[in-house]
Amino acid sequence: MAATNKPMRHTCSFCKRTITIKSQYDMPIYDPQTGFAICKDCIRQVNRFLDEHDQEAAGAEHAAFTEELGDILKKNKPHIIKKYLDEYIINQDRAKKILSVAVYNHYKRMKYGFENEDGTEIEKSNVIMLGPSGCGKTALLSHLSKLLDIPFAVTDASSLTEAGFVGADVEVAVRNLYYAAEKDIERAEHGIIYLDEFDKIARKSGANNSITADPGHEGVQQALLKMLEGSVVEFTARGQRKHPEAPTIKVDTKNILFIVGGAFVGIEDVIEKRLSKGKTAIGFGAKTQGKDEKPKFDELIHQVRPEDLMQYGIIPEVIGRLPVICTLESLDEDALLRILTEPKNAPVRQYEKLLAMDGVTLVFEEDALRAVAKKAIERKTGARSLKGIIEDVMLDVMFDIPKADNPRKVIITKECIEEGKNPKIVDL
Ligand SMILES: Nc1ncnc2c1ncn2[C@@H]1O[C@H](COP(=O)(O)OP(=O)(O)OP(=O)(O)O)[C@@H](O)[C@H]1O
Ligand SMILES: [Mg+2]
Repeated sequence: MAATNKPMRHTCSFCKRTITIKSQYDMPIYDPQTGFAICKDCIRQVNRFLDEHDQEAAGAEHAAFTEELGDILKKNKPHIIKKYLDEYIINQDRAKKILSVAVYNHYKRMKYGFENEDGTEIEKSNVIMLGPSGCGKTALLSHLSKLLDIPFAVTDASSLTEAGFVGADVEVAVRNLYYAAEKDIERAEHGIIYLDEFDKIARKSGANNSITADPGHEGVQQALLKMLEGSVVEFTARGQRKHPEAPTIKVDTKNILFIVGGAFVGIEDVIEKRLSKGKTAIGFGAKTQGKDEKPKFDELIHQVRPEDLMQYGIIPEVIGRLPVICTLESLDEDALLRILTEPKNAPVRQYEKLLAMDGVTLVFEEDALRAVAKKAIERKTGARSLKGIIEDVMLDVMFDIPKADNPRKVIITKECIEEGKNPKIVDL
């Protein structure tokens, strides 16, 4: 005999009501083996409770963040930030000032945005930095990042490609910030993004280059523009492949401060061309560089105007979103000499400490240091080659010194640098 089709009834293990099951959603959780069940009303209640709790927690976090900002402002006044940068970066005073003010104002905007709802807006001032290779752009930003109380992420713009090309989409820059913020979306939304090597995404048809192929550089700039203007950027978690069903994280970039930097090789020629327009041949173009004159880049870079960047291959809309132009100078011999010994992480200081651990005193003669600086100037890569030049001399020393245990003094002379002679070693 067929069983009569009696409606099913289950009892909710929480509220103990017995419910007639018309659809599976009447009792969304039901285990036929144990009879454990939870009815939809109980689930709704738990949900409501959790939502309220989440909102409270978010509110508390927001309040804590706002309060923290007061303290952050006090300890991040521009002169304090600059003093910190001075400990690591030689020269580049103007750049240090601009960055200090940019960061301080960013904190202020944040505080103002949280506390004032009268409709007045303080607009953010994104920064573009231009300076020759090895003059301290990346170093400046990496030291700045250590000081900050807000998330900060560096992304290499040259690795970005337009969606559809092989490489990273521009969203990566925001994703890096999200992880720097330890996955706190509100913090990420008020962080700072540094786009390094920004000149590498200049349109190839710009004046800097005559190659016609352009692997989506204009597309990258268009995508970046949206981010700079403020938009909700969606990305998947790290390690998760992008597919239509992958859960995404959304971050609004409206309040994120953008700093971009690059060497902009050849921009001095663009500036020179503009300046010499309408002048006779005896103008800038005809001037040759004398021995004591500054390099052409330094002469001209401070006169850079937005139209030069446009000419270089950056689209006007992007330039319009980078109102603060910050220029850095190349480093001369004296600056390089100071970089060798003065910063807290100066190469010479580092080697002194290393050898001191073997009971050895390391002495670089003044002439030797100057020879290192001279060599670096010849290599034309700013301070970048200093470490390598010293490393060449120090390798043998660091290999041989630990063979004995007695205290010694190692003297690096000019000849060691210039002719590759062995350092003088004196037993103490
Ligand atoms: N002004 C400076 N003061 C102290 N150290 C410096 C300075 N400029 C550069 N250095 C040192 O030289 C190295 C290279 O500098 P950095 O990476 O900042 O160059 P960059 O300006 O970013 O060049 P590029 O355009 O080639 O990327 C770093 O190790 C940095 O510590
Ligand atoms: Mg760099």
